[in-house]
Amino acid sequence: MVERSKKPVPIPVSPTRAENQGFISESDRVKLSLPTGESVEILLHGATVISWVVGGQEKLFLSEKAALDRSKPVRGGIPLVFPVFGKSTEGPTAALPQHGFARLCKWELLGRTSETDTSIQVDFGLGPENLSADLREQWPYVFGLIYSVNLSKSSLETKMLVRNEGSKTFDFNVLFHTYLRVPDVNNLTIEGLKGTSYKCKVTKSEAVEEAAELPVDSEVDRVYANVPGTVQVKNGGEAIFKVDRTNLEDVVVWNPWKGASKMADFGPEDGYKNMICIEAGAVSKWHTLEPESVWEGSTIINL
Ligand code: BG6
Repeated sequence: MVERSKKPVPIPVSPTRAENQGFISESDRVKLSLPTGESVEILLHGATVISWVVGGQEKLFLSEKAALDRSKPVRGGIPLVFPVFGKSTEGPTAALPQHGFARLCKWELLGRTSETDTSIQVDFGLGPENLSADLREQWPYVFGLIYSVNLSKSSLETKMLVRNEGSKTFDFNVLFHTYLRVPDVNNLTIEGLKGTSYKCKVTKSEAVEEAAELPVDSEVDRVYANVPGTVQVKNGGEAIFKVDRTNLEDVVVWNPWKGASKMADFGPEDGYKNMICIEAGAVSKWHTLEPESVWEGSTIINL
């Protein structure tokens, strides 16, 4: 049970609204939909968004081999990265698995917390009480996370609130590891990164982005720090996703290309052609949270 002083208050089900808007809670997932047909589906496992449908089209890539049985993080959708991005070799997160534990744990459904005629929001909570004994030992801090997913007619907003509920200061990273579904990666350009410093994990080098229109024509794994504005994904010159961020200074761009075939949970083998990860996060440096302090960051993907 999440004990949080500012736990969001669920909205009681209104019969008239319930007729128009969908909020379905099953044992392992939640489904939201709008009267205009848009929908989103979120597993309690990792609070992972696994589907976002607009105009009858799926907007997220989900591997056909993704494990949805809680045995591993979901390959696709929007896995959550917390409290460490990647794998630390030193410091308080060194014992944790790659990308931390948020994507591995079963989150608590806090309920539907906001609703208008054109949007609907659901919140999830995670605290030490939801972690295995091993994970609690590996990262012994008292924290509270509240994760909100807000579906609108042509956008999806995800928001993370991190609260230090203990007596020890902790450092953290947070990131929304969003797998966007695209018609053909070879037709893509990514815009909004020019002039931004990045670390390339493929070549293990650092540089400043020179491309105003970055093509994706091979493996890419770059951490762009302090990206100033909107990042756009364009297909044949037409913007198909516009990613805006609040308090999330960094953007990771990832596509494993043919290396996808080495991942047991990635399918189909050429599925990398239909995805690009544009990951909004706070990962290029640690964020420090003192006792009783709260941090909040969000991203909105507009179509
Ligand atoms: C990206 C990282 O965010 O996630 C990559 O930059 C990593 O280096 C990728 O390979 C996928 O990670 P995982 O743990 O889900 O296989």
